[in-house]
Amino acid sequence: MGLPVTLPASWYTSDQFLKVAQEKIFDKGWQFISPITRFVKDQEDGEKYCQFNLLGNPFFVVDDIEDVYKVTKIDAYYGKYEDYLTGAETEEQLHHVLQTLKKVNTHVTPSGLLFASHQTTPPDFNEYYGNQLEQFIGDKDFRARPIRRKLVYECDYGFMTFIDGYQECLHCTYTHPGLAKAFAMDFYKVETYTNFCRHLAETTNGDPSVTEPGLFLYFFPTCSLNCYAGGMGIFRCCPLTGSKCRMEFDYFFDGSDEDFEKYFNFARQVAVEDIELCESCQTNLECGMYQVGTLNPENERGVVYYQQLIKDRITVA
Ligand SMILES: [Fe+2]
Repeated sequence: MGLPVTLPASWYTSDQFLKVAQEKIFDKGWQFISPITRFVKDQEDGEKYCQFNLLGNPFFVVDDIEDVYKVTKIDAYYGKYEDYLTGAETEEQLHHVLQTLKKVNTHVTPSGLLFASHQTTPPDFNEYYGNQLEQFIGDKDFRARPIRRKLVYECDYGFMTFIDGYQECLHCTYTHPGLAKAFAMDFYKVETYTNFCRHLAETTNGDPSVTEPGLFLYFFPTCSLNCYAGGMGIFRCCPLTGSKCRMEFDYFFDGSDEDFEKYFNFARQVAVEDIELCESCQTNLECGMYQVGTLNPENERGVVYYQQLIKDRITVA
């Protein structure tokens, strides 16, 4: 068997491809959204709701959780909060409007993670993840860390350009010196499961503030959950056009403001380093410099895996 090959460069830049991807990828299956602590009431920044739109399916969740440990289900509604609810002043008015809106199919794991599905009849949650996800999240308490900060910004790269980078760590040693100091990049591994991957990185003791091995989960197609350096961060990479994405980050941390800033700066450093890399890569894709290439089946295992999922979904009749 020959080496696996990459997806064609045209898929990385095309608006037309994105339309097909919406229908065949983003409208199907389950999508990871965030830990449910994202939806607590009376947030510091005054936020009253979370608006989401991974691709083509805007929906929102009202921030009304008073005790995250009592919540086992989350209501999410199709549409834009601003279109329906800016005039609703009382809780009663809000409730009245919400009742008229179509609900999104949602799933909350016992450990506190929210997933959404836009299928009318979604697949069984555990089966969709091959009955393999619970072993990594079942013993975790994702409710323990409060939401501390959210970031949203647009980047000039397509979602696959970004996920290509997330799904391998060959670039980490030279692009992320801080990460490479804290984790042993030579032993970085990506394990592939059903519609998700787990990344494994051992700590080096090179950074005294980072002592526990990280938990890095990639959820097909564009979201991840990253627990490391004492905090938890998630991203949703939401495609806007063939060559543009809106990046959404939620950061969760239990500790002092000072310790949070340390964690936040560590996590942000890695994210900022990736922006430049991905935007440069996208420029090369746009100008036709790159067409197609081979992938290393071992060191780029995660890339091979998710690209195959893209190919399988796109080429299905
Ligand atoms: Fe990176």
